[in-house]
Amino acid sequence: MRAVIIYMSIHNGNTKKIGEVIAKRLEAKLIRAVEAEVEDLLNYDLLGFGSGIYFGRNHEALLKLLDKFPTVQNKYAFIFSTSALGKFPIIHDYHKALKRKLLRKGFKILGEFTCRGYSTHGPLKLFGGIHKGRPDKNDLEMASRFAEQIKKTYLKESELRGD
Ligand SMILES: Cc1cc2nc3c(=O)[nH]c(=O)nc-3n(C[C@H](O)[C@H](O)[C@H](O)COP(=O)(O)O)c2cc1C
Repeated sequence: MRAVIIYMSIHNGNTKKIGEVIAKRLEAKLIRAVEAEVEDLLNYDLLGFGSGIYFGRNHEALLKLLDKFPTVQNKYAFIFSTSALGKFPIIHDYHKALKRKLLRKGFKILGEFTCRGYSTHGPLKLFGGIHKGRPDKNDLEMASRFAEQIKKTYLKESELRGD
């Protein structure tokens, strides 16, 4: 299984912590989106895309990177994020823009993970921020379990395809 994780974590390093746990579990390479080359990424079968949520969506660099992808076949993806507020799918699905691009490029999305992350954005700074200490031990454990589930699903899909 060749896996790579592409991330952006510009606020407090929250999403990087999640990315590291997932990368360890999947024995995946971890790379920042701004440093990633599409030609290199095309060598992987399973691609994880993660970032903090900034103004309601994943980091722009992930979206721009995906624009450079050709249409792919037999490639799998998953999404992860950290955010100050929880995700309410109908009202605001933070992963929507990224999901849409992945699907348009032909990726099969195996799953999504999100948890809270410490934020001192804007006026929150005046009050010491919110979710101090997140992601915490429990969040990291949940991320690790998520990665295990992704791995299982990926292996099952590959087996069905006869790889
Ligand atoms: C510029 C900016 C915009 C943000 N916008 C949102 C938002 O729209 N919704 C939300 O829940 N959190 C928002 N946050 C909080 C971050 O998503 C949260 O702190 C996240 O864990 C940051 O991840 P990072 O440390 O990996 O960058 C914002 C933070 C910043 C700095």
